[in-house]
Amino acid sequence: MDTSMVSAYRALNEAQAAIQRAETLDEALQEGLKVILKNCKAESGAIWYADKNDEDCLHPYFWIGNSDLTSSRHMPGEGAVGRVFQTQQAERYLTFNPANDPVTVEDFGEGTNVTSMICVPFSSANNNLGCVQFINKEGGGSFTDEEADVCEMMAMLAAMALDDNENIQPAWTPGKTIMRVRGITREFTNGGVVTKVLKGVNLDVYEGEFLVLLGESGCGKSTLLNIIGGMDHPTAGSLEIFDEEFSHADQDRLTEYRRDNIGFIFQSYNLMPNLNASQNLELIASLVPNPMSADEALEIVNLSQRKYNYPSQMSGGQQQRVSIARALMKRPRIILADEPTAALDYATSIEVLEVMEKIIAEGTTMIMVTHNEEICRMADRVVRMRNGQTHEVSINRRKAHATDLVW
Ligand SMILES: Nc1ncnc2c1ncn2[C@@H]1O[C@H](COP(=O)(O)OP(=O)(O)O)[C@@H](O)[C@H]1O
Ligand SMILES: [Mg+2]
Repeated sequence: MDTSMVSAYRALNEAQAAIQRAETLDEALQEGLKVILKNCKAESGAIWYADKNDEDCLHPYFWIGNSDLTSSRHMPGEGAVGRVFQTQQAERYLTFNPANDPVTVEDFGEGTNVTSMICVPFSSANNNLGCVQFINKEGGGSFTDEEADVCEMMAMLAAMALDDNENIQPAWTPGKTIMRVRGITREFTNGGVVTKVLKGVNLDVYEGEFLVLLGESGCGKSTLLNIIGGMDHPTAGSLEIFDEEFSHADQDRLTEYRRDNIGFIFQSYNLMPNLNASQNLELIASLVPNPMSADEALEIVNLSQRKYNYPSQMSGGQQQRVSIARALMKRPRIILADEPTAALDYATSIEVLEVMEKIIAEGTTMIMVTHNEEICRMADRVVRMRNGQTHEVSINRRKAHATDLVW
């Protein structure tokens, strides 16, 4: 066998193994696609599902790549994905030249230049369910026929994973876009040495969503959170928040934006040790317009009975809940939480997450950085970063409650 066929078979074997290992259907589809994309050296790829409540319009469900496809849509018949879905015929553009090829490939997110594409529909016995799509062979080359066969096999595996009654229908659809991050970079220069930390991040944030941001230590999560929260400037790129461009905002405007909109929660609680819970909150009340009362904020975090306790008289989980109450005092539209449960044990983490759940249910947008994969089950959307870019996005099909989480 030639080498491309060998690697195609290896891709299939690995995908099958990943699917068998998976504990849930979502994991099976996601891990299967990941393994196959990696083996076929595809830069990006997606699983699209036909939304039965939206005239079979194709929505992205899971994808790899550095674009945010969350609100991308293809009507049946429109664009390559829509056409493949409608005709149920796979299309193999092993190389792709928009000038010569007869279909219009809609962007795989803004700014992606499509050079090669494979798209395959999948269906169960009575139902057309969606499409699997590969975009761009790494290094700009072309996909092989064997790799296109692998994509077709992935579509078959997806169909097999879904029984006849099951559709991929996430629990969440994006609301209004409140933040548009495009091509954000951040470099730090120390002693003449330039470190590129963010390398072109593209991310949308939707009103009221719970977005969980994961990634290995050092990949740039906190740097991104600081930029989104107006604590730091990007080196380049655009950052639109509530329809205002912020990438070049001056210090005063950033301070005002932060004060009016953003609540921060960190791993460390940063409470004043010589002030009780209530006093720690009142300290903030004097700094912001229209603050909540300390009593109301403590009520939300279930700590009314602790208002006179000093930090040293409270558990880590209770102290973290005071710090959440402090973030709530300004009635923020967005809460940015950087590893808020990293220092807590299981039981107190769940208490903190229950409070977060309540705040999100009341309409606050939450972006949480965490190392804890289990917390992803609570999210509307999970974004994984790698090496200064977003790399993988999934939309949850079923959302767990804080009290369902186990680790
Ligand atoms: N002010 C800074 N100066 C130089 N390097 C920095 C600075 N801030 C962060 N970095 C570097 O940027 C990288 C990403 O940091 P960070 O965003 O904190 O990662 P994460 O939160 O994903 O662990 C790290 O290698 C870190 O050392
Ligand atoms: Mg960090």
